[in-house]
This record gives sequence, structure tokens and C-alpha cells, in this order.
Amino acid sequence: MEYFKELLTKPTLFQEERKLDMNFIPEELPHRDKEISLLSQLFLSLITKPNSISRKILITGKTGIGKTVTVKVFGSILQKIAKERNIVIKYVHINCRKERTSYKALIKIIRILNENFPKRGYSPQDLLEIITDFLNQQDVHILIVLDELNYLINKGEDLIYSLTRVNDDSIDTQERISIIGIVRDISCLNNLDYSTVSSLQRNIIKFSNYSKEQIFDILKYRAYLSLKENVISNDLIKMVVESIHVNGDIRNGLNILWKATKIAEGKNLQHINSECVRLGSQELMPFSTLDVLKYMSSQKLFFLLAIIMGFKKKIEINISFADILRRYQIICENYGLHPRSNSQLWNYLQEFKREGIILIEILGEKIRGRKASIQIPEVDLLKLEKIVVEILQSKGLSV
Ligand SMILES: Nc1ncnc2c1ncn2[C@@H]1O[C@H](COP(=O)(O)OP(=O)(O)O)[C@@H](O)[C@H]1O
Ligand SMILES: [Mg+2]
Repeated sequence: MEYFKELLTKPTLFQEERKLDMNFIPEELPHRDKEISLLSQLFLSLITKPNSISRKILITGKTGIGKTVTVKVFGSILQKIAKERNIVIKYVHINCRKERTSYKALIKIIRILNENFPKRGYSPQDLLEIITDFLNQQDVHILIVLDELNYLINKGEDLIYSLTRVNDDSIDTQERISIIGIVRDISCLNNLDYSTVSSLQRNIIKFSNYSKEQIFDILKYRAYLSLKENVISNDLIKMVVESIHVNGDIRNGLNILWKATKIAEGKNLQHINSECVRLGSQELMPFSTLDVLKYMSSQKLFFLLAIIMGFKKKIEINISFADILRRYQIICENYGLHPRSNSQLWNYLQEFKREGIILIEILGEKIRGRKASIQIPEVDLLKLEKIVVEILQSKGLSV
């Protein structure tokens, strides 16, 4: 009881802690007006001439620069405007990394239209037909956002193709489905049907990276929303900007702000000081990742190290499995280890993916083995390397 009482009476530095959360959707998005205005222009006809045109848009840009949040904010603006004019536009945001198959994505779409729809017992083709029927019966248009679309594409699934063909042979040719795809870069589109690619390529919105000044404005705004007045100074926000501007992922900035505030609270400070920011920026690795790494076998850790080193040496975002194998073999020779078989290493790769250690994307899964190439989205390689090395050392393996 006493512990709780003490904690509960402790003054907090947060005004609204949840507003620093990555998934919180702020009312304003500094420096993304241009993109929202562009989206509004592109989707204007959904309001002026309902169901006469469907749009397909592709958004590209690096990780952590507000693609997802901008589209979500745009989605709610669109729905609001439509409602004012008695037009029903539904919005569904699908993260293809979470909904790993077209089937799951389709179920998610249906559930937006009918909450009680059962999860099993239909084929994808059934689902597509049910969706069209719903849309026609209820006279609605749906904006489907396929976020991190590359995850579906890499599996050889072309959901966009199915969704856009669904109405093709009906007489009532109302256009009821619009799509926004979000990918980091357009290279992953190569696996798609030609007509899908060309229709997507006509409408690409490239989100540019934020400048340092813009990152500052954004973090200041998020700090203003979530922290009490005068808890953090401009100079300290600049310090946060400095520690994240290299890869420019706003998520890392929000994370540091949150940690620095927690650290300041823990020290009973009235406001954040530079030490809190320094400590807050030190350990950005999520706890879950640390845990997985701690219990990973040395062999697998060495293989991970080979991947990290491969990426450190290269500037491109792609690296071939063959290249990693070479590095791994060198590491094994240096440490007198017996290298694991290629198929075992291939399994390790899949496991890394599942464990979320590094978001590996295996391009063209059909070409198993040596020809596959691998991508890692921006992760802090140096930090990951440091931790892997430390864990190996703690196991008595000097690296
Ligand atoms: N202009 C902005 N204003 C306020 N917060 C932003 C802005 N841009 C990004 N964020 C925040 O940064 C984080 C990462 O943005 P997100 O949209 O997830 O990036 P992406 O989809 O490009 O990887 C989110 O928590 C988001 O709320
Ligand atoms: Mg995103």
C-alpha cells in the first residue's frame, strides 16, 4: 500500500503521457501540409462525383517520416467531409506486416463493413465478392490503405490486382474501391502485375525526409502536447534532434523524449536535464529484442554479426544471401567455428524475421538460397552490433 501511495502522490512531468506514444495520432502534423493537400486534390472526386472514379495512389519514403500517420489523418478528414455531404466513405488501414496474407487483409476489410462477419469458411474469391456486394448494397465507397505493402508483394500476393478486378465483369460499374499503397521504395513493385504497376506509378507521392529544423518543430510539438510546461528546454530538444537526425526516424525521437522524462521523474527532478537525454538516447533497443538476443545460441549470434557487418560495409539497402554467407564463413574461420549448413542459416534468417530482431525482407522467396537478397530497414546497426558483441563476450567468446 505504502509503495503505491508514494508513487501515486509523486508529481508527474507528463501532461498526457499517451501523446508521446508512437500510435497516437496528433491533431496537427507540422510539415506534412503539402502531402495532405496533395491527397485531398487526388481524392476530391470521391466527394464531388461519388462512386464515379476510384483512385490508386502509391506513397513512398523512408521509415519514420510520417507516412502512416499522414494517411490516417487524411483518412479521418476525408470521412468527415464526406459525412457532412451524406456520402459514406469507409476507411480501412491495413498493415501488411501484421495481416500477413491477402486473406487476412480481406477479412479486415469485410469487418469494417460488417463487424460480425465470421472469420473462417470462405475462399479469397468469396470474400472479394462479398465485399463488392456489401459496397453496392450499402452504397458506400471504401478507401483501403495497404501499409507496408512490400510484405504482401514479397509473398507473391497481388491484392491490388484482385481488388481492382473485382468489379470488372459486373454491369453496374460503380467505382467503389480506392487504394493507397505505402512502401519504402518502389523497387518491390517489380513482382506485381504489369497493369497494376503502371496504374500505381502514375500517382506516386514521395514523402521527403524531414530536415533537422523540421524534426525540431515536430518533436517540440509532441513535447508540448505531452509534457507539462517548461519540462524540457529548446536546447534539449535540439540535443534529441542531434541524436536521431542521421536516420531521421521520428519514432526514435519520441522514444528518447519519453525515456528522458521517465528518467527525470525517477530522479525527482522538476525538469529534464541533459543527462536525462543522454541516458534516454543510449538504449533504444526494445526490451523484447534484448531478451531474444540474450537467449540466442552463439552460432546464431555469429551469423547475425555477419549480417550486421555486411550492412555496415555497404551503402545499398540490398545485400545478397551469398554475400552474407561469405562473411559468415570468414567469421567462422577466424573463430575456429564449424559453420552451419546453408539450409540451417536460411532457417536462422526466417527466425530473425519472426523474432523481429531485424526486419529482413526476403526478396523473391521462390528463389531460395543463395540468390535471394535481403533488406534491412533503418535499424541502428551500431547499437545492435554492440549488443551482439557484448552478449558473445559474456559467453566467453572474445570478438
Ligand atoms: N509531422 C509530424 N507531426 C507529428 N508527429 C509526427 C509527424 N511525422 C511523424 N510523426 C510521428 O512519428 C512517428 C513515425 O511516423 P509514421 O507515420 O509511423 O512513419 P512511417 O509510416 O513513415 O514509418 C509516429 O509516431 C508519428 O505520429
Ligand atoms: Mg508506417
